[in-house]
Amino acid sequence: MNQTINNEQSNTEVKEKNNNKPGYYGEYGGAFVPESLVQNLECLNKAFVDAINDENFVKEYFYYLKNFVGRPSPLYYARNLSNYCGSKIYLKREDLNHTGAHKINNTVGQILLAKRMGANEIIAETGAGQHGVATATVTALFGIKCKIFMGAVDIERQKSNVNRMKLLGAEVIPATTGSATLKDAVDAAFDYYIKHPDSYYMIGSHVGPHPFPNIVGYFQKVIGDEAYKQILEEEGRMPDSIFACIGGGSNSIGLFQSFLNEKDVKIYGAEGGGEGFLPKTAATISFGKPSVFQGTYSYCLVDEKNNPMESYSIAAGLDYPGISPQHSFLKDSGRAQYHIITDKEAINAFKQLSRLEGIIPAIESSHAVALALKLLKDKNELAIINISGRGDKDAERIS
Ligand SMILES: Cc1ncc(COP(=O)(O)O)c(C=O)c1O
Repeated sequence: MNQTINNEQSNTEVKEKNNNKPGYYGEYGGAFVPESLVQNLECLNKAFVDAINDENFVKEYFYYLKNFVGRPSPLYYARNLSNYCGSKIYLKREDLNHTGAHKINNTVGQILLAKRMGANEIIAETGAGQHGVATATVTALFGIKCKIFMGAVDIERQKSNVNRMKLLGAEVIPATTGSATLKDAVDAAFDYYIKHPDSYYMIGSHVGPHPFPNIVGYFQKVIGDEAYKQILEEEGRMPDSIFACIGGGSNSIGLFQSFLNEKDVKIYGAEGGGEGFLPKTAATISFGKPSVFQGTYSYCLVDEKNNPMESYSIAAGLDYPGISPQHSFLKDSGRAQYHIITDKEAINAFKQLSRLEGIIPAIESSHAVALALKLLKDKNELAIINISGRGDKDAERIS
């Protein structure tokens, strides 16, 4: 990966220079990229801003969300889980979307943007394979060539999604460097993008240089906007707390955004804690520090020399040493709280939700369920948990 993308600049310098400039969330964010990508990203930003101000574009996006993805996703009252926990819990059912996760909200929006920009090749990275499947799905729909970069370790642990991507006509390219997981897939995708600036990089999470986080955040906001309306319809009031798991941070930002101004709503992110301690963890906010990583300034897991570390989590979609710059800002401002959930706790929650509600959650989403069960026990609170995806892909490994 190009040095400018994983930079070791003085953190104080980066912080002071950039606070609240466009493309920043407080001091976090920005675009730390090689010269050759600067113009590309500026064009992308301009095309994105034009598109979201064009009512035909927005109409088409919502057309596909409704008719292709199957939105709105239900906000489901989980009676058995609520009785078990002693709080009233609703599940936002992103697992019911076409392709089985929230990732499709973003790829539907981005494929329309790519089409508008005249792209003839789409590239993407994937961890759990859900973003890869969602990308391969929309490129099949619009007949555009697609290359998916995926860590060799993730190819092994999420085999069923690899088969789906291939069936949909995508080329899956193994990333074999480092820990051969999501970080290395993102590195490989950026390397390809730098060499082929005519391709469209359909990034899958709320990460990377500006304007990627803005784009992904915009296309995932539908989760929170729906949940906000649905909870009012069901309960006539705001929830006391909302929960989501955090990989790069897209399903969580999708939910959290709509509730940020509701000061009484507590916001909780569940990080992939792995074994619960360094270096066997992917809990970026809990164990990381602000650094420039993969084109953005945000929290990152780093070693003693400030180099990005390899992360570890049982959940391929959370196994990433970086995080969205907006989450870094929300953490420092205290508006959201981030907690570690270990592999063991996530596996327990995976089984509990399956048996109590007949819903098998993705192992990623199980982290959010575990955190809610921990914090809500006998609290009699009203809460929403985002079930970011379904667990079919994990069922063979966890039983
Ligand atoms: C089902 C599911 N949930 C959550 C995530 C984590 O990603 P993000 O934090 O961008 O939502 C992934 C990533 O692959 C996923 O597949």
